[in-house]
Amino acid sequence: MEVVHTPVLLEETIQYLAPRSAGELMVDATMGEGGHSHAFLSRFPDLRVIGVDADGDIQRIAKERLAEFGERAHFYSGWSQDFFAEYPAELKRPDTILIDLGVSLFHYEKSGRGFSFRKDETLDMRLDTQSGLSAADLIAKLPEKELADLLYNNAGERYSRRIARTIVEERGRGAITGTAALADLVERSVPSSVKHGPVHPATRTFQALRIAVNGELSRLPDLLEGALRVLEPGGRLGIISFHSLEDRIVKNFFREKNKNCTCPPEAPICRCEGRRAVNILTRKGLAPTEAEIEMNPPSRSARLRAAEKVLDEDGQ
Ligand SMILES: C[S@@+](CC[C@H](N)C(=O)[O-])C[C@H]1O[C@@H](n2cnc3c(N)ncnc32)[C@H](O)[C@@H]1O
Repeated sequence: MEVVHTPVLLEETIQYLAPRSAGELMVDATMGEGGHSHAFLSRFPDLRVIGVDADGDIQRIAKERLAEFGERAHFYSGWSQDFFAEYPAELKRPDTILIDLGVSLFHYEKSGRGFSFRKDETLDMRLDTQSGLSAADLIAKLPEKELADLLYNNAGERYSRRIARTIVEERGRGAITGTAALADLVERSVPSSVKHGPVHPATRTFQALRIAVNGELSRLPDLLEGALRVLEPGGRLGIISFHSLEDRIVKNFFREKNKNCTCPPEAPICRCEGRRAVNILTRKGLAPTEAEIEMNPPSRSARLRAAEKVLDEDGQ
């Protein structure tokens, strides 16, 4: 078992999500190779963790890595929003929940599923390889305008229309199934100043496709609602995001839940007694220190936001 991912904002996450009493339960809703969970289980000897991941391959690594903790580590294989939606009533509610969004270095370096343009692999990009459309399916099927919108909306790609046009022309000559073919096509679509710039011209296209394939933005609101609903009142929720679109969704979710009345607009009377659902613990998202960025450059865009749940939906 080889671990390649370094957990980001680890000390900051521990600072906000450390257990405050004996026998606490933590849900690591995006466990990956288990970097955060390993640190929590090592430091807090009576903490138990349930780790969720949509990707069966990476979960096998986490299971092996966390085997030393025996019954203190449990696993759920699937999307975390489904895990929270199906959370068994008889199970103790989590005292803390960590959501470390996005993908792991494992996906770029070891999955073989085409997350990176630096290797020639099949264009898949699915975390859950048992369902949904792959990146190759998406670029084979989407109309040109939808492709351009996807590149622009998910990653702010300035040359989205030119890239979408080239994709559509190219797929007329044969299916685009590999990462090298896609990267090459993007390079041909952008001006030469971008081609020779500091960032590889295909970076945003690959990011946009990965976000679309895994529904990263569309799934997030349900994931946040589900996590907060299941969390024990008084419990803490920590969320690490990696790009501004994700971070904005998290920031607005916490702001909304921090208002003095959180009843739905259609509710005939206020049931929450004007009490807020969460207290925000991090006014601004926490960024990694210079030292962390130097040690682990992929951490540079990470932001941690944390909140404490005040009360349940029914005002309890
Ligand atoms: C950034 S990595 C987590 C890294 C982990 N904290 C560590 O230190 O090793 C995110 C992981 O969550 C998984 N993932 C992302 N979104 C998910 C979701 N909505 N439900 C379940 N798993 C998800 C990915 O497959 C990936 O393994």
